[in-house]
Amino acid sequence: MARYRVGARWSEQGLVGAVGDGIAWIKGLPSAAMEELIEFADGSLGLTYYLGPTALGAMLLTQSGDLAAGQEAFLTGRRLGVGVGDALLGRVIDPLGRPHDGLGPLRFESQRDLDTPAPPIIRRDFVSRPLYTGHKLIDTMIPIGRGQRQLLIGDNSVGKTSLALDIVVNQRGQDVRCVYVLVGQKNSSVLQALETLKRCGAMDYTVVVVAEATALPGLKYLAPFAGCTVAEYWMEQGRDCLVIFDDLTTHARTFRELSLLLRRPPGREAYPADIFYLHSRLLERATCLAREHGGGSLTALPIVETKLGELATYIPTNLISITDGQVYLDQRLFASGFRPAIDVTRSVSRIGGKAQHPRIKEAAGRMKLDYLQFIELEIFTRFGSRLETTVEQKIRRGRVLREVLKQERLQSLPIEFQLAWMTAFNEGMLDAVAPEAVPALLRRIAAGLAEAGLTLNHSRHDWSATVRRWLPTPGGA
Ligand SMILES: Nc1ncnc2c1ncn2[C@@H]1O[C@H](COP(=O)(O)OP(=O)(O)OP(=O)(O)O)[C@@H](O)[C@H]1O
Ligand SMILES: [Mg+2]
Repeated sequence: MARYRVGARWSEQGLVGAVGDGIAWIKGLPSAAMEELIEFADGSLGLTYYLGPTALGAMLLTQSGDLAAGQEAFLTGRRLGVGVGDALLGRVIDPLGRPHDGLGPLRFESQRDLDTPAPPIIRRDFVSRPLYTGHKLIDTMIPIGRGQRQLLIGDNSVGKTSLALDIVVNQRGQDVRCVYVLVGQKNSSVLQALETLKRCGAMDYTVVVVAEATALPGLKYLAPFAGCTVAEYWMEQGRDCLVIFDDLTTHARTFRELSLLLRRPPGREAYPADIFYLHSRLLERATCLAREHGGGSLTALPIVETKLGELATYIPTNLISITDGQVYLDQRLFASGFRPAIDVTRSVSRIGGKAQHPRIKEAAGRMKLDYLQFIELEIFTRFGSRLETTVEQKIRRGRVLREVLKQERLQSLPIEFQLAWMTAFNEGMLDAVAPEAVPALLRRIAAGLAEAGLTLNHSRHDWSATVRRWLPTPGGA
């Protein structure tokens, strides 16, 4: 009793005006700030996202069955954060950091704000180290560097998710921590992705952030930011991280839905005017930090869906202009059996070449030129016209190369292998080979490489002579 003090305490209390579609309208909280957490009397949580003159609109983050009009709402004075730390590895969480896999509670190392500003330019470094994907086509012709933002773009069901999962699986033993963000996907797709990651042992270094299709729109909106925040914590500790946003088309649609419900003015295609800012704010956080700031990196691979191969629509063009390059997956290539269906003519990596090993870069340059020439020349063969022998030979070489570039799912290849097959191709060792014989030859190269134990550190080694020894001599046995 002696310690009891009587005093006045200022508190604001609002009333819920309406609830529905994942948002709530609240009256009577005049000092609410943008993106402030709001607690409702039934324990539900919301995040303010529209401050109107008479009422404020909040997106719901959790919603109990009891939340209804007339209930009280309180300001918390807090911003939304997510728990971060090593305990997250191997776990599946929702965007609020709650476990989603039934493996018990999580012990976080600390809490980080979900929406933090991107590192300023003076804290950054140039992208100079490669991030190997294990894919023949990407590691040679569209290389990705640690700290780069590379878009995976294509129509629906052309293997975007499969490619992203392959890349995560290939990070095993490369000292890269991965965060896979699944936004608005069906439960079955989520389970499939998780199953693949588990089966390949990728969960040891991976966190999965899930906001399923049935989740509240507020959660779907926050999922990419949560994933980015989790990785950012490791980046600041000097680690290399990879974040995959699967996919940002759904994210943009969710944001449009929320914005329209919250009566924010619509712009082009009914998206709010700040949709570009939303994605650039997110992707600017991917970077390579300077050595004096730990030297960590955050590589981002956003996925975006196109309709009928049209790259020039609103959200895809926005993302193409934000990122440092794109890997374009083509529906027609996919249908013709060329998988992964990467269209080299429409894919580009603007900065990844700087991170490529000089030997790989040199070999890939020669090979890419031949491949692009082949794609141009092959069109002529459709007219059935008679071709010169030099042209015919180029086309034959190209057909072999196309066969070489095919790759099954979950068959990651080390970078030494890329150099070995490119050497074989560039030196003309595959010229006389029939396309059907390519898989067997590639197996011989892989076996030879495993036996010889060659790595890129042996870059002065005479690769050409060594690879020639592994291949059968033309006309021989
Ligand atoms: N390299 C590959 N080799 C063989 N099959 C593949 C390959 N890549 C993808 N596929 C198959 O293609 C189908 C579609 O792949 P996936 O789900 O990854 O596409 P998506 O672009 O992510 O589709 P969505 O638009 O539905 O997200 C899957 O059945 C997958 O097994
Ligand atoms: Mg997919």
